[in-house]
Amino acid sequence: MSDDTGEPEVELEARLEEQETFEPSDSFVEQANVSDPDVYEEFEENWPDCWERAADLLSWDEEYDTVLEDGDAPFYEWFTGGELNASYNCLDRHVEEGAKNRAAIKWEGELGETRTYTYGDLLNEVEAFAAALRDLGVEEDDVVTLYMPMIPELPIAMLACARLGAPHSVVFAGFSADALATRMNSADSEYLVTCDGYYRRGDALNHKEKADKGLRGVENDVQTVVVDRLGDELTHFLGNDAHDYDELVADHEGASVEPVSRDAEDMLFLMYTSGTTGEPKGVKHTTGGYLAYTAWTSHAVLDVKPEDTYWCTADIGWITGHSYIVYGPLALGTTTMMYEGTPDYPDKDRLWELIERNRVDTFYTAPTAIRSFMKWGSEYPERHDLSSLRLLGTVGEPINPRAWKWYYKHIGDEECPIVDTWWQTETGGMMITTLPAINEMKPGSAGPPLPGIDARVVDAAGEEISAGEAGYLTVNNPWPGMLRTLYQNDERFIDEYWTEYSDADAVNGQLTSPHSSESREDADEWVYFPEDGATVDDDGYVTVLGRVDDVINVSGHRLGTMEIESAIVGVPGVAEAAVVGGDHEIKGEAVYTYVILEDDAEPSEDMRERIVAAVEDDIGPIARPEEVLFTPELPKTRSGKIMRRLLEDIASGNELGDTSTLRNPEIVDEIARQVDDGT
Ligand code: WTA
Repeated sequence: MSDDTGEPEVELEARLEEQETFEPSDSFVEQANVSDPDVYEEFEENWPDCWERAADLLSWDEEYDTVLEDGDAPFYEWFTGGELNASYNCLDRHVEEGAKNRAAIKWEGELGETRTYTYGDLLNEVEAFAAALRDLGVEEDDVVTLYMPMIPELPIAMLACARLGAPHSVVFAGFSADALATRMNSADSEYLVTCDGYYRRGDALNHKEKADKGLRGVENDVQTVVVDRLGDELTHFLGNDAHDYDELVADHEGASVEPVSRDAEDMLFLMYTSGTTGEPKGVKHTTGGYLAYTAWTSHAVLDVKPEDTYWCTADIGWITGHSYIVYGPLALGTTTMMYEGTPDYPDKDRLWELIERNRVDTFYTAPTAIRSFMKWGSEYPERHDLSSLRLLGTVGEPINPRAWKWYYKHIGDEECPIVDTWWQTETGGMMITTLPAINEMKPGSAGPPLPGIDARVVDAAGEEISAGEAGYLTVNNPWPGMLRTLYQNDERFIDEYWTEYSDADAVNGQLTSPHSSESREDADEWVYFPEDGATVDDDGYVTVLGRVDDVINVSGHRLGTMEIESAIVGVPGVAEAAVVGGDHEIKGEAVYTYVILEDDAEPSEDMRERIVAAVEDDIGPIARPEEVLFTPELPKTRSGKIMRRLLEDIASGNELGDTSTLRNPEIVDEIARQVDDGT
């Protein structure tokens, strides 16, 4: 991914244009949670016990005996022997400490309705819903699937599950019925909480219909709870055996549900994400390590304080929402905002109006959104008083320096530091970013690894590379927020993340005897590979370039090309398909599909529509192809491998490199011509 290509034309003054580094303002540094640069050294010298600092942010029912247990690496365990409950940590303890009247969640619906839950209110509703779930049969360790948009009942249901020790599996509401069914079957889930619908750009969308369709593909008998979001707008259709959320909560009002003490290593939730193969991966996160890590990074990087109003614009259906709308902020007892709708409804200043009215302190969003704001123009933020802001953040994809500078100037008024946070579903929380009061900022570069994180950039052989060269990102030691495994698939866990750069003997040993009890003395032999490319500069700042596997990143949403391909080849008449990511002005990357029809059939508009519909049905509208290109052949090497890099270059309009190693070089010109014609 290049820095300054293909983005909206935006004027920046020459002074900003030239400036390469930025210092945090004194006013920010003076009040920051973490401002002593020695924190890096302290973590390094004291590793892994340094992580007690994260665990200390939580209340434990039972103190842990060991910080890190690495005897069965890479199945690391953190804070072993410790016991705690996540919902207790996010709710009860704040109420006990006198914060019952502090706002926990401030929600705004797209139509402008608002709801505020104080910590006291939230605890009451979580207890009532937990009692209801328990009455429906939910027991400790049962996976409860939550298929809901950005409504307060989603975090309420998450915390109710956490209270009972029942892991949740949240499925993004924009995912299709099929995607819901796949995830429920994979997790063997017997419970679903969903809703009747929600609003998008003023229209009521029927969500329940999608959930019902999904349920028809689920093997288990499922108990379903339906939240009434739309009132009379859509018939609140419950179906035969579905339960009404409001009734359940009313029936259990005033219930008191003792938070279940969970082992630190017990699963808090599952989150499905895309990988190289067509099967989504069920990433397993635990109660102690994950909660400690999200609380610590919220404290150190997002500088969250209890008296703040903090706003992350992600959807809770993705990991960013789990970690930095729900668990991290609530563990620290702050006010976390949720907005249901789109940023340009009813007008393009919606988010800025929300910041002004709620006096938001910290704003955390994605580069794709910033590129849209930039395109819409600075007149929208200029309509509002944004002076409450103290800190800005971005996540999800690389940010180009021009977008960074626009954000810095027009949203932060050159006063707010920006944290560009690199991390993944699997890492649980932030890994590479500046600490906002300590490090200078370099637009486009995420920054150094956080204290206690040993991230490096290496070549294909695993050797560290020189500054400026492109290589692969690796993480050479474990951290508390890391995934513990892929749900019920230890072998794939090792295969996906640990085989590329770990010591080969260790990997083979572990693959032949998973969970061997033999202790491994040298933890360094295990190296985590996030499948991202990166460069590093002389100051150790990492610039993440993007995925090096078959995952593409559309508007900060992670999609597997294989999943999209398998949707397309399911369309009758399609012989073969290749899906790649091509550069996109706003979305970062967009989905480009190359399709070969059976029997040399003539491409038709009808076929194109069926292909697009199949992708939307199998995955969801976020995976909708930007372009469907029909071709008689795909460019292949002599050994028969599809040259994806070439297809990416064609989609991005890049200069095409050497095609002489292809079996069918002539096809490249033909495809490229179609792209130019826009056909
Ligand atoms: C990309 C989202 C550059 C990266 C939290 C990673 C980034 C993938 C950044 C994970 C960033 C995330 N700079 N790239 N600041 N943050 N990425 O699992 O390719 O949805 O591997 O987690 O997003 O996406 P995921």
